[in-house]
Amino acid sequence: MESKFLQLKSDTILAPMAGVTDIAFRLLAKEYGAGLTVTEMISANALARGNNSTIKMIDVVDEEKPRVIQLFGQNISNLTKAAQYCEDKCEIIDLNFGCPASKIIRQGSGSALLERPQQIGRIVKTLSSTVNVPITCKIRLGIRKSKINAIEIAKVCEQNGAQMIAIHARTQKQGYTGKADWDWIKEVKQNVSIPVAGNGDVRTVKDYIRMKEETGCDYVMIGRGAMGNPYLFKQINDYVNTGKYEERTPQQKIKDFFKYLGYAKKHNINLTHIKFHAQAFTKGIPGSSKFRNKLMRSKKLEEVSMLMKEFEKQVKE
Ligand SMILES: Cc1cc2nc3c(=O)[nH]c(=O)nc-3n(C[C@H](O)[C@H](O)[C@H](O)COP(=O)(O)O)c2cc1C
Repeated sequence: MESKFLQLKSDTILAPMAGVTDIAFRLLAKEYGAGLTVTEMISANALARGNNSTIKMIDVVDEEKPRVIQLFGQNISNLTKAAQYCEDKCEIIDLNFGCPASKIIRQGSGSALLERPQQIGRIVKTLSSTVNVPITCKIRLGIRKSKINAIEIAKVCEQNGAQMIAIHARTQKQGYTGKADWDWIKEVKQNVSIPVAGNGDVRTVKDYIRMKEETGCDYVMIGRGAMGNPYLFKQINDYVNTGKYEERTPQQKIKDFFKYLGYAKKHNINLTHIKFHAQAFTKGIPGSSKFRNKLMRSKKLEEVSMLMKEFEKQVKE
């Protein structure tokens, strides 16, 4: 099947991360060359009910194009309503079949659906034939190591109209621990014709190269490796285009935070997210633990900005 998946400028994707990939962080990742960025997961049930705070979570803007909104849910009618609400706000709708959080599994959504391939098929088929933008799916290996069914799930997604599959190479039971098993990314890639994004444990340019070589995946999706380090996308693209790339100094990392802060102010990002990113951008810089203690106590945006400026001076000295 010829995929209708979009042509991207880079084969790197910023993974959806709840509480992390707000619009400001996504814009910064785009600025540094991420081929695609994805919203955090959004509840289809809440969106279908017209829940105001859920509607506000759809924080996409034109500069982010191509925009991807990720939905989670299990009820086909609500997923359809939610997707119809989203379709003119984005270029792709991604379905979450991988979340291992207990409150999501309890409602039969996220990775709980890996146990119900037929329901996944029905969801993907209905949405693919109802909305005008491509549907993509994000999956895991399966529920547990003895019950890996990623190939079956990937085929079901493809047969029912999915245009791309992202596979996080861990099981539901693994959560975010243990090693991602890239062999399964290779298996999935060999068993479907639509593009495959490999995901799990890519933190450096070397990891990116290794994942592409070892699995043959079309795209590399990066989550935690990009936290506080969206410059990784530029390093990867530079390496691909020129064979070399530059390391980021502590001072430059702080500058990157200020760039994030600029976008965050423009898009009214809440203080909790900003503080999270302030921590992430300074992680590992000598002296940063003292700074982080002060940061945690700050209650105002101006205070965060001032503390970061103080810390910047200290790093320069
Ligand atoms: C804090 C956090 C929030 C996440 N939220 C989502 C989410 O909303 N939707 C989703 O599909 N995956 C979510 N994930 C999973 C990531 O997209 C990714 O699959 C996982 O972190 C593995 O990739 P990595 O090793 O590059 O981090 C989240 C992960 C983290 C750490």
